[in-house]
Amino acid sequence: MTPAARDEAVETIRQRIDIVELVSRYVKLKKVGSNYVGLCPFHAEKTPSFSVSPRKGFFHCFGCKTSGDVFSFLMKIEGKDFPEVLQELADRTGVELPKRRPTDIRSREESRRHLEINEAAAVYYERTLWDPSAGQKARDYLGRRGMPEELIRKFRLGCAPGGWQGLCDHLSRENASREEAAALGLLGKGSRGFYDIFRDRLVFPILGLDGRVRGFGARTLDPKEEGPKYINSRQSRVFDKSEILYGLQQARAAIQGSGAAVLVEGYFDVLTPVAAGVEKVIATCGTALTDGHARILRRFTEKAVTVFDADAAGLAASYRSARIMLEQDLSPYMVMLPAGEDPDSFVRNQGGEAFQSLIEGARPTMEVLAESSRKEAGSDVEARTRALKKLVPLLAACRGSLRLGSYVHMLADRFSVGEDYIRRAVDETRRKEGGRRSDGVAAGVARVAGPVTARPEEETLVVLLHLFPHLSNQVEAAGLLEHIGAEPLREIVRRMIGAGSQGADRTLLTGIEDQELKNRLIGMSIKDDVYPEDKAEYLLQECVVKIRRRHLKTEQRRLTEGIQQAEREGKLQEIQRLQRDKIRLDRELRALEAAS
Ligand code: UTP
Ligand code: MN
Repeated sequence: MTPAARDEAVETIRQRIDIVELVSRYVKLKKVGSNYVGLCPFHAEKTPSFSVSPRKGFFHCFGCKTSGDVFSFLMKIEGKDFPEVLQELADRTGVELPKRRPTDIRSREESRRHLEINEAAAVYYERTLWDPSAGQKARDYLGRRGMPEELIRKFRLGCAPGGWQGLCDHLSRENASREEAAALGLLGKGSRGFYDIFRDRLVFPILGLDGRVRGFGARTLDPKEEGPKYINSRQSRVFDKSEILYGLQQARAAIQGSGAAVLVEGYFDVLTPVAAGVEKVIATCGTALTDGHARILRRFTEKAVTVFDADAAGLAASYRSARIMLEQDLSPYMVMLPAGEDPDSFVRNQGGEAFQSLIEGARPTMEVLAESSRKEAGSDVEARTRALKKLVPLLAACRGSLRLGSYVHMLADRFSVGEDYIRRAVDETRRKEGGRRSDGVAAGVARVAGPVTARPEEETLVVLLHLFPHLSNQVEAAGLLEHIGAEPLREIVRRMIGAGSQGADRTLLTGIEDQELKNRLIGMSIKDDVYPEDKAEYLLQECVVKIRRRHLKTEQRRLTEGIQQAEREGKLQEIQRLQRDKIRLDRELRALEAAS
């Protein structure tokens, strides 16, 4: 479906869904004034600060500052992604989503078949594991690694027998396409036909959030095996390693409940802690963390703890994942394991409680990195500069201005450098990296990148235009657009003016990427009494005057400096030209002061 058609469907659904009714399925709401309030489902609280505005179609929590619309509410509370939520609400409201193109239909069909093949394979591997004789070796192995039956079943572990035809035959019996199973990396195809890829291996099905089998990891059971210890099934339409996290399907409730996820590297590094009672553990499937992983994780938690070895490689890995997490607005924490241990061996040697307290003692990755590099650099000013330079990309990756502020403050303190210098380095890096980011916020939602420092009057202006779209012509008439300093807000106002009195798409606000800014704006617009209709025009004029005055003052300063410069260089014509401009400007500014 085309983006425009999709936007239209999104809008229709938005109009048909009653946000109060939807939220009420999860939160007990009470009417207060024109809004509804209740206990926030996204953080623990005793007095209600969660507010829903039926008129505006928003929810906002004054406690944890989460906010959004029907779509983001469902995404957050159900842990689903945008297409899933869109489909669900479309079904519920009877809105027909625009027809998919034939190629879309074909690929949907293909995905469905792939999932069926994966399911058939998972069933086969499970059945083999529980077969008294065929599964004996694998069950013994799992027993030696301390895996209880309940966990084995929950994670649907299985095993592949030693022969070459087991899965092959099973798939034939199920009438599944072996050609497609080969494309999924489950079968190979040689001159004598198809054969099993996983042989004499323990099999770990990798589940999507919907519980369906996306792919597999497989560990050899043969200590003499010369090939790789672990192999994965192949990347396909249903299995994208850069987007899937092992164990997340099973851990999501624990992660949401505890407010943190623990990120490890291997399959057993997930299973052993879970068996020992630490449930919020997940892993990538043999790849480094990607922004896709981080984005998914962010839907369930704000805090992510990485667990790596206590060596240089461990520090480097922590650095890399912290950067990716920060870009997705996750707050990165880290712990280091004693040399030679992985989470699996640590838990086996020291127990689940020791692991739990290790996790609880996790510290912000930025702090650990700053301390270790500061210590290493010693008092050598050059080494210190190099160490600080290395941390700048992490700062540049920060989304919210508050996090950046705290980091800058901390580093300025530890490295005895003025905050200004650090900030300038961050700005330079961001400029150089500009456009590097590729954030896949749900399509059809206005995308506004990066942290933003907006003036209060600019924020108020946006909120007023959002609440009272008919005022947009006044902003246009005042020619204000170019004088709005914060890029994303300028873009929003531009669209609001474009949409005129009927009002722009509501996702303009919910789509703002700087979470703090977004939450502030929605928080402002959801309180009825702050911007009453009869004062709106007056308040808007106040903003207009402030923005214009700021612009004129900046111009004035620029001209004054230009005149001084021209005087130093003796450029008479230039002086006259600038002075004329300045006189005009001074007059404009006086008129503005007089009028307000
Ligand atoms: P490790 O080599 O650290 O293995 O690989 P491990 O997890 O400790 O394995 P056990 O405890 O001996 O069973 C860590 C992760 O890297 C990926 C797998 O995802 C593994 O869990 N890996 C490792 C591969 O993809 N291929 C390999 O050959 C080895
Ligand atoms: Mn291990």
